[in-house]
Amino acid sequence: GRVAVLMGGATSEREVSLDSGRNVLAALRARGVDANGVDGIPNLVRELQDGHFDRVFNILHGGDGESGVLQGLLESLRVPYTGSGVLGSALALDKIRAKQVWIADGLPTPRWVRLAKGDDVHAAARELGLPVIVKPSLEGSSVGVSRVFSDADLDAAVELAARYPGELLMEQLVEGGEYTIGVLDGRALASIHIVPAGEYYDYHAKYKADDTQYICPGLDEAAEAQARDQAERAFAALGLRGWARVDFMRDRDGRNWLLEANTAPGMTSHSLMPKSAAVFGVSFEDLCWRILETAA
Ligand code: DAL
Ligand code: MG
Repeated sequence: GRVAVLMGGATSEREVSLDSGRNVLAALRARGVDANGVDGIPNLVRELQDGHFDRVFNILHGGDGESGVLQGLLESLRVPYTGSGVLGSALALDKIRAKQVWIADGLPTPRWVRLAKGDDVHAAARELGLPVIVKPSLEGSSVGVSRVFSDADLDAAVELAARYPGELLMEQLVEGGEYTIGVLDGRALASIHIVPAGEYYDYHAKYKADDTQYICPGLDEAAEAQARDQAERAFAALGLRGWARVDFMRDRDGRNWLLEANTAPGMTSHSLMPKSAAVFGVSFEDLCWRILETAA
């Protein structure tokens, strides 16, 4: 059948999504899939009403693409789509709720507080202990995120995060290494240890820099097995489906701390999910094909 590759949209990750979408589209076409790109949900609705598509490959990052809104729409139209359903998408996009579910399931995630308007952010930071990381709960690609090492920088960090929709969270900054692991159809792929040339794996290091190092698999055998198990449990706890990428920190004592799960992970040439799959001999084209097969 004809596949709509949904990309773009009106989110802070629009450009990343267009880049991911072009790659996915090219890969599916190379596999002989009759696929076309569609920019944003309103256009998708029109195209579906005109009967142009019967399946959706969702690569619209963030916002309504990853929040359950798109998923609910497609459920009610009975159109199969890739990735997680309504509840899994909503839980995973909201970093605070994802952490609450993981905690309830006995999975490790850094300590945090939810910041509401009028809260004493300085008291919250003292309670967690500096350094902390301040994030909008609903954004991706590090948009609106700040690391805070000194009390004097706290207000600016909160102000920046508050520019984005949703709640804010302040989380203990785990000192150690940054890792991620792809999950395909419920099974973990290889871990990646991300070593940015600068201090942090921020938006620039994610998509612009060519000097970020990726070590994949990122762990020795025993630690790798443990990380894969945690990623699969993190995926299952949120009720995710199809594919996702689970981000975590590994502290200096070798303990892993889950940060978030991404239900429409980046598929740009810089992105991690394809690297995680490649270790298993799954090419970019294979990966796109296998994700499409999980559409339900
Ligand atoms: N939010 C970006 C696209 C990612 O997780 O890869
Ligand atoms: Mg994310």
